[in-house]
Formats: sequence, structure tokens, C-alpha cells
Amino acid sequence: MQTRIPIIAANWKMYKTIDESISFVAQLQGEVGPVEDREVVIAPSFTALQAVRQLMNMPGFKLAAQNCHWEDKGAFTGEISCPMLQDAGCDYVIVGHSERRHVFGETDDETGKKVRAVFQKGLVPILCVGETLEEREAGNTFDVVSRQIAAACLGLSREESSRLVLAYEPVWAIGTGKTATPEQAQEVHLFIRDNCASLFDKDVAKGLRLLYGGSVKPDNVDALMAQEDIDGMLVGGASLEVPSFKRIIQFHTREKSTQ
Ligand code: 13P
Repeated sequence: MQTRIPIIAANWKMYKTIDESISFVAQLQGEVGPVEDREVVIAPSFTALQAVRQLMNMPGFKLAAQNCHWEDKGAFTGEISCPMLQDAGCDYVIVGHSERRHVFGETDDETGKKVRAVFQKGLVPILCVGETLEEREAGNTFDVVSRQIAAACLGLSREESSRLVLAYEPVWAIGTGKTATPEQAQEVHLFIRDNCASLFDKDVAKGLRLLYGGSVKPDNVDALMAQEDIDGMLVGGASLEVPSFKRIIQFHTREKSTQ
């Protein structure tokens, strides 16, 4: 049996100064201590990446960027490249977040270029996919998600695809307090795993870590994590305070062992 090490990731979006990021991580590491059976990923703002890296000293704690550009360098004012993120000590890069797609107009094609650039630099993409409310109500959830995955994973090697992390974040559940039910999330996660089995291969798909994101809170994390194909959480609002994020990290499920 393949074990999928759970990932609990904090996406801080455009919140927290450098000082605020440092005190959060210092407190969190102090309270949680080293973790072996799960990974804790923090995605602060670009400006706080290096400071957070220098402070991260606990096994199991990893650093992520929230976005990147696909070129290594060039005249792209305001953009950050993967070599720069590698230089800042990142392990992961969030790619194709719905706010990138829907607020900043990022296309499937651009998301694919970013995924390939992240892998080329030895980092791991956390690829976000998910449908809008309109798309769900029209019955297009699976079509949207499979289109986003196919475009983003175009040309990946088997080795790259086996390291990919996917996050299903239904747009209607992000920042709305309206979480997908564990059953709704599981249904799409299973679809994603099956979809990846045909896109890559069955073994790769079995080992892929699929995160859920969208109004994850201390009171719904356990039920979500108990689902067979949910391997972690990508948390926005509830990751901004130590007590709530700590409780999410310390999820416990009776139904499914995380060991
Ligand atoms: P919320 O947890 O605030 O709904 O945000 C989810 C998200 O976008 C994480 O990437």
C-alpha cells in the first residue's frame, strides 16, 4: 500500500507583514513541534519568504510561494521567477489558484507553463483546480476540472507527475464560509484521481496527494480528512490565526489512519 503523507498548507494570500509572519511561524513551531506523519506548508507573501525560511527549523515544516512567472528572467516588471523562489528557499509553489485565474485572468495555458517551470527548478507545484458556482450548477464540474488538469499537466514526465500536488478548490467555497460537504469533495477527488490514472498511470494516480481547499475550519477538517481520496487541506482564512491553524494541522480521523 502506498502511503500519501498528508499536507496541511496555509495560503496567506495578501496578508501579514514580515514581522507578523515571523511571529506566527515562531509560535506555531513552538506549539506544534516537529511533525513526522504530515507536512505543514506555509505560503506567506513574497516579501516574507526568506525571513520565514530562516526561521523554519522543525522537521515537517515546508515553505511555499503563492505564484510564479514561467520565464527564468527577463523584462517582466513585477514578476517573480522560479530561480528566485528557489533562491529564497521555497519547496513548493502554488500554481493556478482561483484568484489568479478569476481575478487576474490567468489562463490554462499560462498555468501549464508555470507548472513546467516549477518542476524544471526542482520545486513542486501545488496545482489548484476547481469550478465556479455557475459551472457546478450547469453540471460541468468534472469537465472544468479535467480541462484544467490536462492543460496544466501537458508534457510532464512520469517522474514529475508523480511529485505533483493537486488542490481541489471549488471557487464557490473559497472565502465564503460555504464548505463543500465531505461527500461532495470526495466525489471530485475520486474523479481527479481517476482522471490522473488515465492521464498519467494508475500507480502515479494512487500516490498523488490531493488537497481540498475552500472554507476549511477546525470544525470541518476531521470529516474532510476522513475521506478516502482527501490527502490534505489548503487553508486560507483559518490559517491566519495560530489556534485555528494548529487545530487544523492536528486533525484526527477515526476512519482513516494517517500513519
Ligand atoms: P478560505 O479557506 O479562506 O476559503 O480560502 C481557501 C483558499 O483559497 C486557499 O488557497
